[in-house]
Amino acid sequence: MPQFALTRDEVLSIVAPYHAQLVPSGDSEGRRLRRQVFKNQLHMIASGLAKRLRGGERNKAVDRVADYYDTVYRHDAPILPGFQSGGRALPFGFGDDLLVMQGFPMHRCIIAQVEKTIRMLSPGSVCEIGSGMGRNLIYLASRFPQIRFAGFDLSHHAVANCHALQRLETLDLQFPEVPGALTPEQMEAVRAIDFFQANAADLSARPDDSYDLMYTVSAMEQMHVVLPQVLKEVHRVGRRHVVFCEPFLEVNDIWQRLYLWSRNYFRVDIRFVESFGFRTLEHCTTIPRKQSFTYSALIAEIVA
Ligand SMILES: C[S@@+](CC[C@H](N)C(=O)[O-])C[C@H]1O[C@@H](n2cnc3c(N)ncnc32)[C@H](O)[C@@H]1O
Repeated sequence: MPQFALTRDEVLSIVAPYHAQLVPSGDSEGRRLRRQVFKNQLHMIASGLAKRLRGGERNKAVDRVADYYDTVYRHDAPILPGFQSGGRALPFGFGDDLLVMQGFPMHRCIIAQVEKTIRMLSPGSVCEIGSGMGRNLIYLASRFPQIRFAGFDLSHHAVANCHALQRLETLDLQFPEVPGALTPEQMEAVRAIDFFQANAADLSARPDDSYDLMYTVSAMEQMHVVLPQVLKEVHRVGRRHVVFCEPFLEVNDIWQRLYLWSRNYFRVDIRFVESFGFRTLEHCTTIPRKQSFTYSALIAEIVA
């Protein structure tokens, strides 16, 4: 059985450029950081509850999610959100230990997990559901120019941004793995990505079995209200495999679950996903855990 999950050593090499420091939880600094994390978690739960009691629901209907993202993504010039390497150092959970890292390299690990899965499965076509401003697909296209990529997003502004990025002469992803501006060949691969505006709960414009591999990155968490329809559509449009990088309940401890509940946010376990016709190949749990909630990656086969 191949090992899809990023190993501990792979994660450590991905986060190294982010001034990552491994702190064993048993030593005095580790205990101090754990106390700090716990205090922060209690604070987040309290503020989540206060918002929920004031009626600020997090799981929104699709039109409200669209309004929200259309506002967030509206920009005068095309932008490529990076993977943030500067800023304050923060503690992340990592197995029993802690990783203190600058910026937000957790997302780098998530996309590296998708990349590793692509290398192992060698799909001919890959589709991201909830592709946002295009950063994941643009990165992956620059790494795998031979693969046909597509992305769907609810927000018109997100898709317009992706199309505008495709028209630029070149792009600088600021990724350690892709240093400097993209080459003309890489830009050609970026221009070949199909970006579509659509609600993932209704992909009826696409025929069955359109893409070998479907994936999501922190997107199903925004689709809670329509998740059953989205999973049915992913199952129909996908041909072989999926990678869902989402905050599944299994990897969230009691305090993180309480936080998710306090915000009325994504609360889905893997059994729920499997019930839509996905058979788990591996559940990858090596992604560093942020304080509010934890992401893992479910790699599954599409079955009848
Ligand atoms: C947190 S962003 C993540 C974007 C991207 N995956 C990334 O990692 O940069 C979530 C995205 O999901 C999209 N989204 C939310 N609900 C959706 C739906 N029902 N159909 C399609 N996209 C949706 C939002 O517009 C947003 O771009």
